[in-house]
Amino acid sequence: MKMWDGRFKVATDKLLEEFNASIGFDYKLAKYDIQGSIAHAKMLAKCNIITKQDKEKIIAGLKEILAEVENDEFEFKVELEDIHMNIEHYLTEKIGPVGGKLHTARSRNDQVALDVRLYLKDQIEQIQNLIKQFQDVLLDLAKKNIDLIMPGYTHLQRAQPIRASHHLLAYQQKLKRDYQRLDDCYQRVDILPLGSGALAGTKFDIDRDFVAQELGFSQISQNTLDAVSERDFVIEFLSTASTIMMHLSRFSEELILWSSSEFQFIAIADAFCTGSSIMPQKKNPDIPELVRGKTGRVYGNLIQLLTTMKGLPLAYNKDMQEDKEGLFDTVDTLKVSLEVMSRMLANTKFNRDKMIEATEKGFVNATDVADYLVEEDIPFRQAHEIVGELVFYCLEKDKKLSDLSLEEWGQFSEVFNEDIYQVIDIKNCVDNRNVVGGPAKDEVLRVIKREQKLLNN
Ligand code: ARG
Repeated sequence: MKMWDGRFKVATDKLLEEFNASIGFDYKLAKYDIQGSIAHAKMLAKCNIITKQDKEKIIAGLKEILAEVENDEFEFKVELEDIHMNIEHYLTEKIGPVGGKLHTARSRNDQVALDVRLYLKDQIEQIQNLIKQFQDVLLDLAKKNIDLIMPGYTHLQRAQPIRASHHLLAYQQKLKRDYQRLDDCYQRVDILPLGSGALAGTKFDIDRDFVAQELGFSQISQNTLDAVSERDFVIEFLSTASTIMMHLSRFSEELILWSSSEFQFIAIADAFCTGSSIMPQKKNPDIPELVRGKTGRVYGNLIQLLTTMKGLPLAYNKDMQEDKEGLFDTVDTLKVSLEVMSRMLANTKFNRDKMIEATEKGFVNATDVADYLVEEDIPFRQAHEIVGELVFYCLEKDKKLSDLSLEEWGQFSEVFNEDIYQVIDIKNCVDNRNVVGGPAKDEVLRVIKREQKLLNN
C-alpha cells in the first residue's frame, strides 16, 4: 500500500516504519493539508491539467474527509507515514484512481512547507488575539487601581515610588511589541511555497498566483530550492514565542514574589491557586510558576530547530520532519500560558495597605530630597552625598525622613524649609514625575486611554 511500491519489492521493516512516521503528530495539519489540496485541485482544472469532472470528484472526496477529520472519525495509519499520504490514500479509496491525479505537479516537499505555513498563519492570528485580550486585562486593572502606590525596584531593592498601574503598563508595552513582532514574522510566513515541486519546480503550466489567491497568501516564493529547504519562518516564530514567554516568565516571577508572605502585595484568587498535600496552611501560586517553568521548553524548541537545520544541504532532508513537534508544543504552550495568565490576573487583588507600608519604609523619596537641593542650586553630586548622610542618620535613629524635625533637617543643610515635607510626601513624589511615560497620575491615565484606543482600533 506504499506510494513507492513500484520501486520497492519488499515490505518496510516495522520498526523503521514507526521511526519514519510523522502521523503521530502531523495529524494536526489535516485541515490545512485538505485546504491546500482543494486549492491545488482547482488550479489543476483551471490550467486544464485535470478535467473539471475529476476536480469535482477530488474536491467532494476531500470535503468528506475533512468532515470525518472534524468529527474525529478519520483513522490515521502509521503505515501511511504522514498526514499527506494518509489523506491521499484515503481519497483514492473513496473516489478511485482519479484520487491519484491530485498529486500531479506537486511533491510532499512543497506540500508540507505549505501546510506548516497555513497552520502558522492561522495560529499567529489566534495568538495575537490572546495578546490583545491580555493587554485589555492589564489596561483594565491599571485603570481600576490608578490610586495604588507601590515601591518601584531596582536590584529588587526599593528605589522610587510608582503607581501599581505604571508597573502593569510596563508589561502592556512589552506585550504590544510582542504583537508587533508577530505581525512582522507573519509577513515571512505568508509566502506560498506550492509549485516548487520536490526541488526544481514542475514542467506543467501551473498558475501559482491563482493558488496564492485561493489560499490567501500575499506573496509567492521566488526560488524552488529555497522554498522547500527552508524553515526560517518557523525559527523566527519560535524566537518570537520565546520572547513572549520571557516576558510572561518575568511577570510570573513578580506575581510569585508579590503573593509571598514576605511581600503580601497581591492575593491571587483561590480558584487559581493550589494547596499542599501535607501543609494545610499552604496556598501556592502554581500557575505563574508553571508559566515560568514552561518558558524553558519554549526556548528548548527554538534551540532544537536551529540545531536541526544548521548542517542541512539543500533542498529537503528528512531531518526537517523534526520541525513540527517543537512548533506544535510551542504554539500550545504559548496559547494556554497567555490565556491562563490573563484569567488569573483578572482575578487578582492588590493589597493597598501592604504596598503603602512598603513604600513608606524604604527611603524611596530620597531622590526627591536630592532634587530639592539641586533646585536650591546645590550640584547634584553634593546633594546626593548630603541625602546619603540623612539616610544614614535615619537608619541610626530608626526614623523615616518624614519623622525628622525641621531642626534635624537643618543639621544637614541650611536650605531645607517647611516645604520639604510636601516634597517628600510619597504621593507628591509620584505625581511630580509627570514626564511623558512617567508614573504621575495624569500621565498614566493618558497612556491608559491612548493604549485602549489603539487596542480597539
Ligand atoms: N512527513 C514529511 C515531513 O514532515 C513530509 C515530507 C516528506 N518528503 C519526503 N521527501 N520524504 O517533513
